[in-house]
Amino acid sequence: MLLAINDADKYKYTAKPNPVVGAILLKEESIISSGYHEQYGCNHAEINAIENAKKNIGKMFKDFSELTLICSLEPCSHVGKTGSCAHKIVESGIKNVIVGSIDPNPKVSGKGIKILKDNDVNVTSGILDELVEQQNKSFFFKHRNKRPYITVKIASSKDGKSHYPNISQTVITCKESKKDVQIVRANHDAILTGGNTLRNDNPRMNARVHFSLNQPKKILLTNKSFDSTYNFFKDNHVDIHKTKNLDKIIKSYYRDEITSILVEAGPKLVNSFLKANLIDELIVYRSNIELGSDGVDWFEDNNAIEKYDFKLESSCRIDNDIKEIYKK
Ligand SMILES: NC(=O)c1ccc[n+]([C@@H]2O[C@H](COP(=O)([O-])OP(=O)(O)OC[C@H]3O[C@@H](n4cnc5c(N)ncnc54)[C@H](OP(=O)(O)O)[C@@H]3O)[C@@H](O)[C@H]2O)c1
Repeated sequence: MLLAINDADKYKYTAKPNPVVGAILLKEESIISSGYHEQYGCNHAEINAIENAKKNIGKMFKDFSELTLICSLEPCSHVGKTGSCAHKIVESGIKNVIVGSIDPNPKVSGKGIKILKDNDVNVTSGILDELVEQQNKSFFFKHRNKRPYITVKIASSKDGKSHYPNISQTVITCKESKKDVQIVRANHDAILTGGNTLRNDNPRMNARVHFSLNQPKKILLTNKSFDSTYNFFKDNHVDIHKTKNLDKIIKSYYRDEITSILVEAGPKLVNSFLKANLIDELIVYRSNIELGSDGVDWFEDNNAIEKYDFKLESSCRIDNDIKEIYKK
């Protein structure tokens, strides 16, 4: 199970917004094959493990009833893009299945295991559920909380400022921090910003990384109209929301295939998220530059981070900056 979980992680940037899943077929203690959910919209892990085992029929085993299937997440029960895995496991003749964690998605939860048990397959489940949940943090969060996981990322000067007003862009953090931000973007399913940041900075906000990934979708909150020449409109479709009701906007993504949203905006929108109690994680890149009294404060309240119950989870140096991660 640990091997299935560990190797599944290789596909976290191409499987998203789906969870990463690994599957291994064993005959007694020998591994016959393995399979992973490698690409969103393509075969699930169990199907790949079954397909990969077929070349060993007659060599390492005679038929699937001799094998045990280990899979990190409960096999799906719904006929989505790829057909139900639970039914395909039954059709293959596999008689023993070990599941890392039950799927939190109500469309599947317990139903995949029921299909297996109803068809005389022995199932053991919940072997490493905490680890599987940790690996697919935002997927589990979304199904438990009926909304995506929200991370807010800010670049702050030493004196807690965001930018100078009336200039096009204020550079605060170092090159290495900007590189790190690309990985943070790659880890999210969508990036959200506000009208002012788009008008003032014209950012592209894609993940500029050197590996394959499903680029984050884009979300823009504005009441004004924007033409599609802004950089933000490159790379991916942009959802535009005119309402200022953040709770409604964020909850509307429960039905969408987005498990995590990275908010990269200025103080107005960030403070609105804070007041709406919609920040699960706050990432601060703090530079040693001071903007002084002309700079715009990040937070409307003094000690906002502590006041809103955020606890520092980790802190590290990136060149001249400090990266801090706060969680509720
Ligand atoms: N240091 C950093 O990390 C960082 C990051 C991003 C941006 N910035 C700086 O921040 C500046 C802009 O900051 P800002 O505070 O003026 O604007 P902002 O937070 O980027 O955007 C505010 C705009 O978002 C829209 N909006 C929709 N719903 C909202 C809601 N519930 N609450 C608040 N806004 C909502 C409105 O757009 P409409 O007016 O279009 O309707 C509003 O004017 C830029 O100049 C940029 O340089 C700094």
